[in-house]
Amino acid sequence: MAEIELRGVRKTYGVGREKRVKAIDDITLPLAATSVVALTGASGSGKSTLLHLIGAMEKPDSGTITVAGSEVTALRGGALAAYRRTVGFVFQRYHLLPGLTALDNVIASVLPYRTPFDKRKRARELLTAVGLSGRETALPSKLSGGEQQRVAIARALVNDPAVLLADEPTGNLDSATAADILRLLTEVRRQHPMTVLLATHDPQVAAQCERVIRLRDGAVVQDVDLTGEYPAAEMIRRIGQLG
Ligand SMILES: Nc1ncnc2c1ncn2[C@@H]1O[C@H](COP(=O)(O)OP(=O)(O)OP(=O)(O)O)[C@@H](O)[C@H]1O
Ligand SMILES: [Mg+2]
Repeated sequence: MAEIELRGVRKTYGVGREKRVKAIDDITLPLAATSVVALTGASGSGKSTLLHLIGAMEKPDSGTITVAGSEVTALRGGALAAYRRTVGFVFQRYHLLPGLTALDNVIASVLPYRTPFDKRKRARELLTAVGLSGRETALPSKLSGGEQQRVAIARALVNDPAVLLADEPTGNLDSATAADILRLLTEVRRQHPMTVLLATHDPQVAAQCERVIRLRDGAVVQDVDLTGEYPAAEMIRRIGQLG
């Protein structure tokens, strides 16, 4: 179970000679294992940076990030690479390789590794799970935006990740397709217990998650729990805070 714990995490970026952008400004958060958490906040508030730090694609300037009891901010070399392989990442713009079929896009990230499963069989199963059975040989250019995002989700799941990080996964989709993708993510999480962290501008997407954390200037300014058994009026009030 991948519980995620951030303690005093800071990340600044240098801009020009002296100015520093505080992308993440002293965040301390526990994220319960197998929860589905939305990260919201204005453009530039630090959502993508936080996902990159948790995925160990970047290092914080200070503070620690612990995932499933292992301090990922202290990992180096092979251990760091092994951790990264336990994280699935879904991007706003899908980032599929245009010359590869849907099936090969799903397989590509695990191709260099020995896996305990048959890669092709697993990729087929995942494409079926995301509703793309029969489209295995399609190139990305022949798929709609929602279908491409489904391929990207299948690809992110190929290694059975303990943590799924999704950066605006519905940002380029119409609202009906966005709702489908979100349902799919929720369904996948029900079948494979994993911690899902999803950055989104869309209050409707956030409202379907279990917890909503709002960032402003790299700090947490709101943390709303939507899992409790609240009376309808309280639930509406809580969801209203997300708008
Ligand atoms: N590689 C970088 N170099 C310099 N500054 C950066 C870099 N990445 C992010 N920043 C800055 O850090 C801050 C947080 O950026 P981040 O991309 O995390 O925001 P975001 O909440 O994901 O925004 P958006 O909603 O637009 O995707 C911004 O001020 C941004 O300009
Ligand atoms: Mg972003």
